[in-house]
Amino acid sequence: MITGKTTVVGIMGDPVEHSLSPPMHNAAFQELKLDYVYVPFHVKRGNLARAMEGARKMGIMGLNLTLPHKIEVIDYLDELDEAAELIGAVNTVKFTENNAVGYNTDGVGAVKAIEETTPVKGKKIIIIGAGGAARAIAFQLLLSGVGEVLIANRTREKACNLRNDLKKTFNNSLGCLGLDDELEMELKDTDVLINTTPVGMHPHQDDEPVVTSDMMHPDLVVNDIVYNPLETGLLREADKVGAQTVHGTKMLIYQGIEAFRIWTGITPPFEVFETALMRELG
Ligand code: ATR
Repeated sequence: MITGKTTVVGIMGDPVEHSLSPPMHNAAFQELKLDYVYVPFHVKRGNLARAMEGARKMGIMGLNLTLPHKIEVIDYLDELDEAAELIGAVNTVKFTENNAVGYNTDGVGAVKAIEETTPVKGKKIIIIGAGGAARAIAFQLLLSGVGEVLIANRTREKACNLRNDLKKTFNNSLGCLGLDDELEMELKDTDVLINTTPVGMHPHQDDEPVVTSDMMHPDLVVNDIVYNPLETGLLREADKVGAQTVHGTKMLIYQGIEAFRIWTGITPPFEVFETALMRELG
């Protein structure tokens, strides 16, 4: 029951009505008997400054940020943790008495999801795509000790821009490529392949996957961050060669678990988040 003592957290985005975070977090608050509530806030572009001021003044304790606010929100924070600073985007905020600290749990979510299957330390990883998700995942992988990261993107120049940003902080082997023969060559000795593009996402689930089975090998781990449909074309290609697959739902769950931990100090059970998510995804 919500009372005068209930702690409020939530998500600001535009749109926000389809967010899967409220059911996941509220299920965990209930399971752990924590007096918290997670609320969706529809904050339009242009209104974020006032919404953040309002959140502070109303004693909201934590926030997630989604499109289009992940970069602009930094202007309204007092501190950033290391990963958020490097990535240049924030998806989680914790408010204390006079302070607002920004975190980015998207990359942590992806690393934890992959590490259920294989440790990332020292590995060669190819990331397809060069947008915000690719950026968060690439920085977090490097912070987690991967050996080599290659960014492969339809627009090669964008891949190289991200590679150059990574190079400013890390002196690992880092590269950029297009989605062409070079990608096929590099995949031969790659340990983990991560798709961060929307290719294969509902309602385009029948589109040709960015990488097909003839380019994969059985020791490859393939992660698609697309979670709708659960079984994407890319993961079906991986199945064909006996490669291990990591579903997009895992990153979504782990980024939420990490935000929950930042706010409450408690790591909630994976299964509670998963059950709530699967109920929503049907
Ligand atoms: P996000 O911030 O969510 O990661 P984004 O910034 O829109 O998303 O980035 C989407 C990425 O998917 C881009 O790298 C984009 O490639 P381009 O830089 O060439 O635009 C990639 N992408 C989108 N649609 C694609 C498609 N049909 N085939 C290949 N790559 C695609």
